[in-house]
Amino acid sequence: QMQFLALCTSLRRSLVIPIWSSDTRLDGKTAIVTGGNSGIGKETARDLAGRGARVILACRDTTKGEQVACDIMKEVKGAKVVTKQLDLADTKSICQFAENIYNTEKTLHYLINNAAVAMCPYARTVDGYEMQFGVNHLGHFFLTFLLLDLLKHSAPSRVINLASSAHVFGKIQFDDLKGEKKYHPVRAYAQSKLANILFTRELAKRTEGRDPEIPTPPSTALSLLRTS
Ligand SMILES: NC(=O)c1ccc[n+]([C@@H]2O[C@H](COP(=O)([O-])OP(=O)(O)OC[C@H]3O[C@@H](n4cnc5c(N)ncnc54)[C@H](OP(=O)(O)O)[C@@H]3O)[C@@H](O)[C@H]2O)c1
Repeated sequence: QMQFLALCTSLRRSLVIPIWSSDTRLDGKTAIVTGGNSGIGKETARDLAGRGARVILACRDTTKGEQVACDIMKEVKGAKVVTKQLDLADTKSICQFAENIYNTEKTLHYLINNAAVAMCPYARTVDGYEMQFGVNHLGHFFLTFLLLDLLKHSAPSRVINLASSAHVFGKIQFDDLKGEKKYHPVRAYAQSKLANILFTRELAKRTEGRDPEIPTPPSTALSLLRTS
């Protein structure tokens, strides 16, 4: 019953809240958007670039990322968008991405942890974790951990984790994080989105964030239902 009430509240919020927009300029700011080559990530990148931020698309497929960077730079006059390789299912790739950021960027103001896989057949990350928990939560958790010093050094800065109303159905299976005992694609997605919220709250506490916002996009854009 509690889960049902929480879901109703979340749905009502997403239906009642009008489409958000801002014309605040972001010149001189740098943002990373994971999974910035598609869906909500791509729209976020376009909006940030349109307001003057330099945007780094962190994509597992750089060909797709470069195409999107080109599209945004054609559409938005003066947009500064670059693509860098990041596979959140692979700890080594996350380390290489973070190292590249430290070598090339003096500041980082926004880390937008947007990428996700959803409701896919059972698969594992390179490090052996269940894929949805591994990419949606563990990968972003590790990436944030590695970039935290640069974010702190660039304050005021912000980490934004994309959650979902689906988190209300989530339960963290501490005794089965590899999903070996029982795997259900929807439950695994819900677990990963609950982990996003718990991580956001804890990070806000530990970094003395004053305003832990937990974005849960309205469930209308369905590109996420791709399963590969
Ligand atoms: N769409 C909705 O209705 C909805 C509702 C609630 C919450 N959300 C949340 O909003 C966020 C964006 O959703 P969306 O619908 O825009 O998703 P989407 O269009 O499917 O995009 C997901 C992105 O994540 C990337 N990705 C997947 N696995 C990756 C990996 N291992 N390493 C790096 N990148 C990876 C994908 O890359 P490829 O293009 O290479 O596959 C793609 O760019 C997600 O966090 C989702 O949970 C979405």
